[in-house]
Amino acid sequence: MPNLKIFNNRIKRFKKTITVSGDKSISIRWVIFSSIANGISEARNLLMSDDVMAAIDVIRKLGIKVKFNNNSCKIYGKGIDGYKYKKNLVINARNSGTLGRLILGLLINSTVPIKLIGDKSLSKRDFERISSPLSKFGANFKLKNKKNLPLIIYGSSNLRPIKYFERKGSAQCKSAVMFGALRTKGTTVIKAKKSRNHTELLCKYLNLPLSIKSNRSYDLIKIKKIENIKCFNYKIPSDISSSAFFIVLTALSKDSELTIKNVNINPSRIGIIKILRKMGVKILFKNKRIYKGEQNADIKVKSPKKLKPINCPSRLTSEAIDEFLVIFLVAAKAEGTSYFKNLAELNQKESPRLIWAEKILNKMGIKTITTKNSIKIFGNPNLEIKNKIEIKNYLKDHRVFMTSVIASLSFGGKWYIHDKDSIKTSFPNFLNIIKEISK
Ligand code: S3P
Repeated sequence: MPNLKIFNNRIKRFKKTITVSGDKSISIRWVIFSSIANGISEARNLLMSDDVMAAIDVIRKLGIKVKFNNNSCKIYGKGIDGYKYKKNLVINARNSGTLGRLILGLLINSTVPIKLIGDKSLSKRDFERISSPLSKFGANFKLKNKKNLPLIIYGSSNLRPIKYFERKGSAQCKSAVMFGALRTKGTTVIKAKKSRNHTELLCKYLNLPLSIKSNRSYDLIKIKKIENIKCFNYKIPSDISSSAFFIVLTALSKDSELTIKNVNINPSRIGIIKILRKMGVKILFKNKRIYKGEQNADIKVKSPKKLKPINCPSRLTSEAIDEFLVIFLVAAKAEGTSYFKNLAELNQKESPRLIWAEKILNKMGIKTITTKNSIKIFGNPNLEIKNKIEIKNYLKDHRVFMTSVIASLSFGGKWYIHDKDSIKTSFPNFLNIIKEISK
């Protein structure tokens, strides 16, 4: 079983500098924006993962040329109306919720029906959250069980702008509607609960007609169609969600120190940093800089003497949404009980992650109390795992695999972790970096 990995070594103390792969959210957005720009856009350090390759394949299917050369990717955009919608078109978003949801926004102007499919995990996820607002523009949808993939989109050449209230704090919902707005004349108005804002920052950088008014919890976004989007080059910064695994590994190690170079520290993505700082981990941002509206920095982490439990504020949910699984490992070692709430969205991810968090923690011998949207974790600062733990049938959720690896390196035990290839979704280089740190 080549896809089964066995881990039975705890990590020794380390002092390292690493670079993790490119940011997934920015990579996918760069691909999509470049595909509707006028002319050739070039990216360096594009994340070469399955999710991003799925995005490349999708735009190729829509008639857009893409070329790879060494560390560079060139996309030959044909302008805002440049997609070719062939008869019987099938678009495969594979494992990527971000791709499947964002691209739908742009497909609402197709006058031929388009089928959107995905893998087993994506086919279990909610697409009604996207079809519902996009229908208001004037497109029609047919979804499996009214909610899931495969879906068929029946677009229209007669679309109207909409008013939309995004209440979940989902950047995917917000962004899908922003892309939909680029297909209509007139102004679309979105009131959105705070979530990652890479789409907005790219719109601003590309001079799209966009205005944003913000308060503490919501953004009011007004956006209009534009005739010409300039092509643009982009050097993708490293992904904080990939960095998270190594930040936590350092937080759970003794006398160790780690620097991660050039990571995107967009304020809407740094929930993990805020949470771990509250738990007593020393994390510094060095060499802060702004690149095309995005904040990047080197992240320096030191292992703490002891970890404090946390009552995690609800407002950090969206900011740390992809990191909770691995954050829970820190709570497992904290001195006391941690409480995380407002987490219903976690069960809407590549696997039901709150349920998986509980399974993994319980296998590790950590007591938890879980509801549909919260988890209490009874930490044990002396946790040492001696038994065998097997992790399988988790819908190949990349973050379940990587979290389990970090748990094995931090707490010991003999871990049999299946579906190693799941890391190709977001972080193909993950195990090489583990090797590098373990040297
Ligand atoms: C993403 C948004 C988040 C996140 C996902 C990537 C994005 O999903 O979990 O991994 O790039 O917009 P939601 O918007 O559904 O919360």
